Amino acid sequence: MDKHADFGNRRVPLSDKQALVDDVFQSVARRYDLMNDLMSGGLHRAWKETLVAAVNLPKGQHAFAALDLAGGTGDVALRIAQAGGRGTHVTVADINPEMLAVGRERAQRAGHDITFVEGNAEALPLPDRSFDAVTIAFGIRNVPRIDAALAQAHRVLKTGGRFLCLEFSSVDVPGLDRLYDLYSLNVIPALGRAVTGDAEAYRYLVESIRKFPRPAVFADMIRGAGFRRVSFRPLTGGIVALHSGWRL
Ligand SMILES: C[S@@+](CC[C@H](N)C(=O)[O-])C[C@H]1O[C@@H](n2cnc3c(N)ncnc32)[C@H](O)[C@@H]1O
Repeated sequence: MDKHADFGNRRVPLSDKQALVDDVFQSVARRYDLMNDLMSGGLHRAWKETLVAAVNLPKGQHAFAALDLAGGTGDVALRIAQAGGRGTHVTVADINPEMLAVGRERAQRAGHDITFVEGNAEALPLPDRSFDAVTIAFGIRNVPRIDAALAQAHRVLKTGGRFLCLEFSSVDVPGLDRLYDLYSLNVIPALGRAVTGDAEAYRYLVESIRKFPRPAVFADMIRGAGFRRVSFRPLTGGIVALHSGWRL
């Protein structure tokens, strides 16, 4: 078994990757949401709205439990809380206390009762079959043992529950691919340096996107965790993909 993992373009011992990832998000936590708007020209908002629409939240009092994995500053959780009815409750699980602290402050300001849990997606401190939906946005590629995180998402879902994963993907539109490469390799690290003082964190971001498995391969990993009716949908020319699977 290969006990190494990709950390951007570097191969690192599997057991070292999480600490390196944690340093990245600790460093950028306070500027994380601003950077998302700047880097994506606001597009991340539309991608997250597409994710939330796919959750198919019930209106009114109907009880619905959603878990946003690697939910960081609560950006997806807040959207779910806003879109759901009074019976909707959202839990955020993330390994990074700095990201969670920003999320708690945001939820409090917005007046939403969101539960924030510090925990590793590979070993969630949450009971079996307790959620109607599990979402994860731009999180899975940071997790060292992706298979373990997918197995945990499956474990905590109720039968009939849906897993939805938004992740960077492979640009499949001729012309856009070259433009995207130029932009991501040159502009994003410079923007990261200017806004967060940490170009390396954003170099990691770009490199990790390029290392992430192609969408059909990732869909096979989702199937391998036990999910059924697995599918994916490219968004914005394949810059990101929305993956879906059901616990049946
Ligand atoms: C790019 S951010 C995404 C945040 C949020 N989902 C969003 O879309 O704005 C990646 C998040 O994954 C979290 N993360 C990394 N490894 C993790 C792990 N093993 N378990 C849980 N969260 C993890 C980081 O702390 C960080 O908050």
